Amino acid sequence: MSRRGIRAYVRLIRERDPAARSLVEVLLCYPGGHAVAVHRLSHWLWQRGLRLPARLLSNLARVLTGVEIHPGAVVGSNVFIDHGTGIVIGETAEVGDGCTLYQGVTLGGRTLNQGKRHPTLGSDVTVGAGAKILGPIEVGDEARIGSNAVVLQDVPRDTTWVGIPARQVLRREERGDGDFAFVPYGVTDAGSDPVAEALQDAKRRIDGLEAEIKELRCRLAPEDFGETRRPETEMPMTRSEQ
Ligand SMILES: CC(C)(COP(=O)(O)OP(=O)(O)OC[C@H]1O[C@@H](n2cnc3c(N)ncnc32)[C@H](O)[C@@H]1OP(=O)(O)O)[C@@H](O)C(=O)NCCC(=O)NCCS
Repeated sequence: MSRRGIRAYVRLIRERDPAARSLVEVLLCYPGGHAVAVHRLSHWLWQRGLRLPARLLSNLARVLTGVEIHPGAVVGSNVFIDHGTGIVIGETAEVGDGCTLYQGVTLGGRTLNQGKRHPTLGSDVTVGAGAKILGPIEVGDEARIGSNAVVLQDVPRDTTWVGIPARQVLRREERGDGDFAFVPYGVTDAGSDPVAEALQDAKRRIDGLEAEIKELRCRLAPEDFGETRRPETEMPMTRSEQ
């Protein structure tokens, strides 16, 4: 790697990881960077038909860094792998320029067929820790995959997907819920769970509907409810009742 390339790499890491302090630290302590560097060489060997040396090299990198990148995978420039341990990038996967992958990410297949069976990530995609993106699907540029999501379908560009199976969610900014900024360490609203919140919302609505139904039944047949008088919120009397 050229001196300019190294500088750009260090700048990139310092931009994306608030924990990065010095150039030496970045060069020595970021196994994701080492894994990508070794991958460049193993990919070069792979493309020239030197399959076994390529596999051996990528396996050595896996042992040393905890990041497994198959030599056949295509990895773009400025890809940042943070922490790294447990990352698996399959043979036919493609990772676009500027993507950020955290530990435990799998870009895997869902079938044992030969041919394209791993995902393609566009540019500047963020994939949170532990997320799995499975099958020959496409993830659009600047998409964000939440930590621990399992993505099984194409992801449009500039969208956020979370959960298992992953579904699209609106960003707080898109809903006008406050400031937006890339949050490298993930969920900012500690403890909030969109599924639990949706269930609570559904329960609130059901409770409301039950109360309305009870009130309507009470108006129609007050005797069933032990009522002798109409409730105060009763409907106006009809002419025949008057
Ligand atoms: C998905 C992510 C990139 C945030 O994207 P964003 O587009 O800024 O989305 P927001 O923060 O506005 O969140 C949108 C909604 O998704 C929810 N959400 C975010 N991440 C989630 C996740 N991983 N799982 C489940 N729900 C998640 C939020 O709670 C929010 O819902 P709410 O407003 O109803 O509470 C981020 O949450 C994330 O997971 N980043 C990965 C970070 C990571 O792995 N760090 C490891 C460092 S070691």
